[in-house]
Formats: sequence, C-alpha cells, structure tokens
Amino acid sequence: MQAFPYWRFALRAFAHPAMPPTHSPDAPPLIRLEGVRKTFRLPNGEAFDAVRPLTLQIHEGDVFGLVGKSGAGKSTLLRLVNLLERPDAGRVLVAGRDLTQLSRAELRAARQQIGMIFQQFNLIQNATVFDNVAFPLRIHAGHPRAEIDARVRECLALVGLAEKTDSYPAQLSGGQKQRVAIARALAPRPRVLLCDEPTSALDSETTRALLQTLREINQKIGVTIVIVTYELPVVEMLCRQVAILEKGQLVEQFAVDGQAGERSTVLGREIDELVRRRAREAAPRPPGQSARAVPQGVAYA
Ligand SMILES: Nc1ncnc2c1ncn2[C@@H]1O[C@H](COP(=O)(O)OP(=O)(O)OP(=O)(O)O)[C@@H](O)[C@H]1O
Ligand SMILES: [Mg+2]
Repeated sequence: MQAFPYWRFALRAFAHPAMPPTHSPDAPPLIRLEGVRKTFRLPNGEAFDAVRPLTLQIHEGDVFGLVGKSGAGKSTLLRLVNLLERPDAGRVLVAGRDLTQLSRAELRAARQQIGMIFQQFNLIQNATVFDNVAFPLRIHAGHPRAEIDARVRECLALVGLAEKTDSYPAQLSGGQKQRVAIARALAPRPRVLLCDEPTSALDSETTRALLQTLREINQKIGVTIVIVTYELPVVEMLCRQVAILEKGQLVEQFAVDGQAGERSTVLGREIDELVRRRAREAAPRPPGQSARAVPQGVAYA
C-alpha cells in the first residue's frame, strides 16, 4: 500500500448521487463467504492468519468494496471468492453452490461465472487484443467460431475498444490494457467481476474513465463487482457497500449511501467524510453564491 494519493480527489468531478441497490431485499446473496479462514505457512515454519474466520455476503448487482491497509488480507479474501485461494475452513457459496465441494471440472465450470481483473492487467503479450479476449472462450470447448467472434466484438465495444482488435498489448496505454482485461473477464458472461486494485497503475484521468466504464457495465449488464482498492475516492465513487479489513478481520461494513452512521474505524470515517463532502458540493447553490473555496491539499482537475 502506498501513501494516500490526495491528488486523486480530483476524481470527485466524476462523483454522482449514490445509486440505489438493484437487488430485491429478500433475494439470497449471490456470494456468501461463511466462516472462511486462510492461514499461510511462512518460510520459518510459523503459521500466519491472513484471513481470520469471517462471514460476508454480497448481493447480485452490487458494487462491493474491500478496503484496508497493506497486508490486511484484501487480495487473499478476494481470491477466496473464486477459490484461487482455497480456505482452510468455511464455505464459499456463489449462486448457492459451495465451491469448496466441487470437483475440478465442476469448479472450472463454476469459475466461468466469476471474472477477474488485476492491477497489472495480466494480458498475453504475444496475442492480439482479439485473441486475449477470445482466450477464455476458446479454452472451453463448445463455442462455435462465429459465436466467439461476435462475443469478442461485443465485449470490446462494451469497453470502448472496438478499434483495437488487431493491436498487441504493447501498443496500448495502461487504461486500454485494463479495458482489454475487463473485456476478457466479461467474455464468458460472468455474474461476478472481481477487481484487485484495477486502477492503481493508472493516472487520475484514466482512472476516472475506467471507473465510469465499470459503473456502466454494472448498470447495463448487472454484473456484480467486488473491488479491492486502497483509494478511498474509488470507494466513494463506485461502491454501494464497503467492508473494511484489519489484520485479516472484517471490522466494519456499511452502505456507501451518505446516511450518517457510527463508524468504528478511521477508514470508515474517512469514507463517510468523502461521501458527505461530495453530497454538499453536489447540492445546488443559492443564486449569487460563489463557488466553494478549494480546501487545502486537495487538487481539482
Ligand atoms: N502465499 C502466501 N504465503 C505467505 N504469506 C502470504 C501469502 N499470500 C499473502 N500472504 C500474507 O498474507 C497477508 C495478507 O496478504 P494480502 O495480499 O491479502 O494483503 P492485501 O491486503 O491485499 O495487501 P496489499 O494492499 O499490499 O495488496 C500479508 O501479510 C501477506 O504477506
Ligand atoms: Mg493486495
């Protein structure tokens, strides 16, 4: 984790009123982590609890943020959702199925419902944009070529990269690479998109555009987004729910909807403060009142 990047307050220009939840209040959660625990064995033989037993649920259509300091266990928790990390205890329920109980073949099929993107994009360097996005469709037999072709083009259009089908990753900007990664993750029509610090390698302008794309994807196709970030403005702009992790424990969870609440953590209070500031600044000003002074230390685009 790096120092908090205050210049990213400039992203507030992109802020908008909190989006209403898309799920019905009675619907069962799409993701339920039930008493999951992950312990790593360190080189010196000691056990290290990266995720202590915790329970968490995420509803379909949500945009769910996981925040916490470096080493808090955010990435490990995210990777438990698609079983890139297998929990030492507990259950990982996605769409009602416990992934920990599936055979390898069943798990491979279930993972089609869960796309993932990473900070460093993880594209195949010697494959074109088209082939990168087609990759998850080709490794699963049964997709006719014409169907793959149409789906790849559809996904590239969704992320605004229809013109780049024949380019190679090295010919793209960071933001474009992340868009290819998003298109690739969406190609198998997942219900969940896991994002591990997807904007940390991008500048503010590119971050804003990428968050806009993620928001549109969530709204247009209803894909549930779970995003790990250390950037509080990203939470404030994109997330409807946020969970705060400390030393592998879930210490706080709340809706990012501007409703005042007792927050038990510093991060929780900082997120609330950002949300309230955005609401104040979005409120219409009485006629003749001048624009608010720019607070010290806060950069504006
Ligand atoms: N494979 C592993 N073996 C041993 N320890 C690990 C392993 N993976 C993660 N850890 C440890 O578990 C803890 C949580 O790691 P994790 O990557 O989940 O943190 P994080 O919250 O994502 O941090 P960051 O913000 O720096 O990415 C860290 O202390 C890390 O060193
Ligand atoms: Mg991490």
